Amino acid sequence: MANPDAGTANRETWTRNSGFILAAIGSAVGLGNIWRFPGVAYESGGGAFIVPYLCALLTAGIPILFLDYAIGHRYRAVAPLAFRRIRRHAEAIGWFQTGLLFVIGVYYAAVIAWAMSYFVYSFDLRWGEDTQTFFLSDYLQVGDPEISTTVVGNVALPLVIVWLAILAVLCLGVARGVEKINMVFIPLLFVGFAGLVVRAVTLPGAADGLNALFSPDWSALSDLDVWIAAYSQIFFSLSIAFGIMIAYSSFQRRKANMTSSGLVVAFANSSFEILAGIGVFSALGFLAYQQQSAISDLEGLTGPILSFVTFPAVISEMPGASFWGALFFGSLVVAGFTSLISLLIGVSSSLQEKFGLSRVVAAVITAGVSGVISIGLFSTTSGLIALDTVDQFANNIGVVSSAIIMTVFTVWLARDADLLRRHLNAVSTFQLGRWWIALIGVVGPVFLTVMLVQKIISIIN
Ligand code: PHE
Repeated sequence: MANPDAGTANRETWTRNSGFILAAIGSAVGLGNIWRFPGVAYESGGGAFIVPYLCALLTAGIPILFLDYAIGHRYRAVAPLAFRRIRRHAEAIGWFQTGLLFVIGVYYAAVIAWAMSYFVYSFDLRWGEDTQTFFLSDYLQVGDPEISTTVVGNVALPLVIVWLAILAVLCLGVARGVEKINMVFIPLLFVGFAGLVVRAVTLPGAADGLNALFSPDWSALSDLDVWIAAYSQIFFSLSIAFGIMIAYSSFQRRKANMTSSGLVVAFANSSFEILAGIGVFSALGFLAYQQQSAISDLEGLTGPILSFVTFPAVISEMPGASFWGALFFGSLVVAGFTSLISLLIGVSSSLQEKFGLSRVVAAVITAGVSGVISIGLFSTTSGLIALDTVDQFANNIGVVSSAIIMTVFTVWLARDADLLRRHLNAVSTFQLGRWWIALIGVVGPVFLTVMLVQKIISIIN
């Protein structure tokens, strides 16, 4: 049984508005910004990608971010119970979102564990000359990529550390755990990462890298896949339609300037993302310069390979390699960890509310179950393969479906949108007009449905 009154009276709250904003930025800025965005942009039209990207941000990203905020803040509950408060049977939407969080958390943790190992390896540049063999054979010990069941001893230890750290933060809770960590680490992350980017753009060859990233391929705009990539990137990057922002805003005080905070978060997230694109491609330009090749001849410009094969090669070439390596992988760890916290607190607070558990019990169950699955999956089989499939499913299909269901439900079935709009306007300085309802009720769902259908057709074929 859901406990309809759970958490209303003694609900945990952020101690200050900046705590909420930094935690929301901490959730948004993550692996998606550093290792997903640059490659996606490069493959999806380069400079021309800015068009679908901005469209996705303005027509779906920010409006749905506001919807998440409104639901959490108005109904003062984490996703399952919040939807239940709108309509009893809608609780399932919240559990669907919670399920996505759980799935993403399991593999997200593995990438953070890899980054932790590489942070340590930076000090003696242990990856050597052949960074690909090092990553796949020595580190991950992927034997046969098809049926690898080798025990990946290297990954198990950092993975255990990641999960113990998550357990600790979940036990400390919203104000003493999540807020404190983000207040300290997010400013550090921005400063450290800015340093990296400045270093990268001053390397020889950087300009060629930036050219490669930004030269627009306008024909990409007629490719539906490019649009899908832009929307998925925005959802993943802003952490929206996953129930997380519902949770975070449910911990806000009653009087809180919600929409303005949302604009700050969205702006910070996109800036970080574009900064990461500039940094990553400057560094790739430098690598191409060193190897006297063209950027387009480089391989491994996305995903795990970019961060763990291509980047180590770049770092080894740089003066002061160990320092920059540690800063890069340290940034990945911090950015990833603050996002992982949000993924898991979404799960644990849902359990806490639903079953009336204490915070510590919910934390132990959440971190315990996801940790065991994550460690089991990623330290005994070829995590790299699982990762790609799961990422495809959860991010392209899962979250887009979630966004469609959520917007159609609130606007058309529950007819709750105007109430939510007035709720946000009553507490915020940035006012939402009826355009907001048009975006989340019509433009968003129509666009998203076309994309989803297209995606499913392409998977079936
Ligand atoms: N937004 C995070 C990133 O960019 C990932 C994330 C997705 C975090 C969903 C929480 C929920 O890496």
